[in-house]
Amino acid sequence: MMRTVAVLNQKGGVGKTTVTLGLASAAAAAGRRILVVDADPQSASTWVLGHDPAEIGGSLADLLDDEPTADDVRDTVVTSAWSDLVHILPGSPRLQEYERGSKKRMRRAIDLVAADYDVVLIDCPPSLGTLTRSALTASRHALIVVEPSALGLRGIGGVADAIDEVWDSTNPDLVLSGVVLNRVPAISSEAERRIDELTRIVGRSAIWKPSVPQRVVLNQAIGERRPVHHYGYRASDPIDAFDRLWRKLDATVRRAAD
Ligand SMILES: Nc1ncnc2c1ncn2[C@@H]1O[C@H](COP(=O)(O)OP(=O)(O)OP(=O)(O)O)[C@@H](O)[C@H]1O
Ligand SMILES: [Mg+2]
Repeated sequence: MMRTVAVLNQKGGVGKTTVTLGLASAAAAAGRRILVVDADPQSASTWVLGHDPAEIGGSLADLLDDEPTADDVRDTVVTSAWSDLVHILPGSPRLQEYERGSKKRMRRAIDLVAADYDVVLIDCPPSLGTLTRSALTASRHALIVVEPSALGLRGIGGVADAIDEVWDSTNPDLVLSGVVLNRVPAISSEAERRIDELTRIVGRSAIWKPSVPQRVVLNQAIGERRPVHHYGYRASDPIDAFDRLWRKLDATVRRAAD
């Protein structure tokens, strides 16, 4: 639990998966071991990491069915096509069935293998339902991904409330560790206004630097199922952003675990 991070926002398409995978790419480039837990029934991160959710042997959903052993969890985890350092606990459409049910099961499963990794990242679905609340129950850290647009900021208060509710009910160790701004255009007074607005809501220190720029190569990386670090100089600024965000995350996780 201490090294587990839930990457969330109830809003769809803001870059939860892009940020989760960008951080995993940076972690692997730094030689660190990462487990990506795909808690989204759409299972995009499972697919981008090289596995077809429709063909995979077992998924996170199977581990939520009953009380798994550590061996059950290790047997469900697969190595990604990116690197031996990046493993994935696959998602599947069947996760949809868990939109009702106990919020503590995901934590039990992840805790059995978390010590095998430096950091565990949970890619959440775009909702504040049971799957996201289960991910928050399993995590020491909540990382919100936000797009600095008018629509992107809508609902951010609801995300903060959900974190508070989980902290209050199932996980007193949970903290909102940061907000990552994604898809920030090079020049936009609108984006700057929205960042100011967000600063008023969550506070200056909660917003992590740097933000992730809007770049077509990030879209391409997802489509080609490659880590962003594969693209070299063509992706130099997003790579630099994810490397710095990774160092911040790594330091945050280590500090909290001491
Ligand atoms: N910084 C960026 N620059 C350019 N494209 C981006 C960026 N971030 C995300 N995208 C693109 O936006 C789309 C949505 O991103 P992503 O799948 O990461 O969002 P999500 O929040 O995980 O979505 P969902 O809610 O469906 O899980 C993808 O096609 C992705 O490639
Ligand atoms: Mg996603």
